Order: sequence, then C-alpha cells, then structure tokens
Amino acid sequence: MPQTEKITISYLIEKKKKGEKITMVTAYDYPSARMLDEVGIDTVLVGDSLGMVVLGYESTIPVTMEEMIHHCKAVSRAVKRSFIIGDMPFMSYQISVEKAIENAGRFIKEGGCDAVKLEGGSEVAHIVKAIVDMGIPVCAHIGLTPQRATMLSGYKVQGKDVEAAKYLIKSAKDLEKAGAFMIVMECIPDVLARIITKQVGIPTIGIGAGKDCDGQVLVYHDILGLFEKFVPKFVKQYVNLSSQIKDALTKFKKEVESGEFPKPEHAFHMDPEEAKKLLED
Ligand code: KIV
Repeated sequence: MPQTEKITISYLIEKKKKGEKITMVTAYDYPSARMLDEVGIDTVLVGDSLGMVVLGYESTIPVTMEEMIHHCKAVSRAVKRSFIIGDMPFMSYQISVEKAIENAGRFIKEGGCDAVKLEGGSEVAHIVKAIVDMGIPVCAHIGLTPQRATMLSGYKVQGKDVEAAKYLIKSAKDLEKAGAFMIVMECIPDVLARIITKQVGIPTIGIGAGKDCDGQVLVYHDILGLFEKFVPKFVKQYVNLSSQIKDALTKFKKEVESGEFPKPEHAFHMDPEEAKKLLED
C-alpha cells in the first residue's frame, strides 16, 4: 500500500525486512523537492553535491554549513511526506564531537531535516554515536566518500581488495552499532554491497554499488540530464533536460530578436475607448 503519511525510520526499516526497495534522490531547492515528494520518493537527500551541481564548485570541499542550511530550508518547505536527510559538509563534524552535535542540531532545528548524513567508516563511529545519543538520526556513508577524494587519490571504486572490503564490512557493522539508521554505500563492488546488505539490519542505499542494496540513490540533476560536466558510470539518465532547456531558450532568444514574441495574447490591453483618449492626449 503506498505510504501517504510522513515517512519514518521504522517504515524504512520495515521496507528492508519486506524486501521492498527504498528510493532516495537529492534535492537542493523547493521545486525539485516538491516533485520528488509528489511522485513518492521515500527519502530526499540535501546532498553536499549541492556544491558541484548547483553552486559551481570543483568539489564538495568548499560547501559551508550556511549554504547547506539555506538549501535544506527550501527543501523542507516543499516536502510533506518524504524523509529529509541533510548532508553534513566537510569539517562540520570532524573537529570535535561537540561541534558535530551542534551542527547536526542546526540541520534539524533550522534546516527542517529529519536526519543528517556524514561520511566515513569505523573511524567516525564515535561521532555517529554522539549525535544519535542526542536524539538526532544519522545516515552513514561509506565507500567512495567524496570529502576524502584527495586522500583516496581521486573518485575511485573502493573495497576492491579483500583487506579494503573487510574494512568496509567492519565499518558498516560499527556504524550500525553506533546507532546509524541507514548506510549509503558509494562506488563499491556489487558483491561487497550484497554482503554488507545481508550482514546489517539497517537499510543500505547504493550509488554505484549494484542492485542488491536495500535501495538506490541518484543525484537529481544526473537523473534528468541537467549536469553536463561529467556523467559517472553508475548514472542512468532518464531524460536529457539540458538539451530541451537549451532548445527552449534558443527559441525564446530568436523570437524576441525577431519580434515574434510577445504576441497580443501575451500582453495586457486597455479598454479601446480609454486607449483612444490616451493616444489623443
Ligand atoms: O552529496 C550527495 O549527493 C551524496 C549522494 C551522492 C549519496 O552524498
């Protein structure tokens, strides 16, 4: 039965138990969030991909708390039903546990989010626990963690050898133990994603992690063909809106320049008698 009420954590965990797939898409503004909510996407992620996709940064590193909160506010004003997750930007949770709790709280209190997401494996489990202990739900994020792309020597598939794979399995278990309610797994081999999904009780959401995760996430602009800089292998572009938008904008430019737009039906008209008096004046 389709869920019409606000999505909860227990609803998402129940979906995993029943083998029903969970959907997650990013949103950064009011109109996109409204559409995701209307079509019934389970979870809306205000990702720090905001930095690259919308703000034009080269990576997610420069994204600030203020930018994230600003966009979370727009998303939460639009969403009625989906579960909203705010992505903690680089250095908003690493400096100290106190700072992490304070910033996580801002996502809930100011941004209107239901939960936060932060990147990292076992090494951030103590931060996850501290935030969860304060009553703020945390979604973990393992595998390719873009905030550490330099340390990882680029945007590469993670967990390809047994040692690295075992660390990711341990991380998933440690993060579940720390209280994370969900784990995003980015760019890891499908067999590893399958193992982790079987071994943890919380939902796993894959992006470039194969079909056996409990759900899938993609960036809104990638699904719609709105981000032209590059298209990762794991993306399925369902429509190419960039070319459609450029076609429409080119037509507008031509019609304005040729005088074809606006037509009388796009203008406001005075009563003819009033217009006559005005013209005679
Ligand atoms: O920032 C983001 O959009 C993300 C997703 C790609 C999982 O972290």
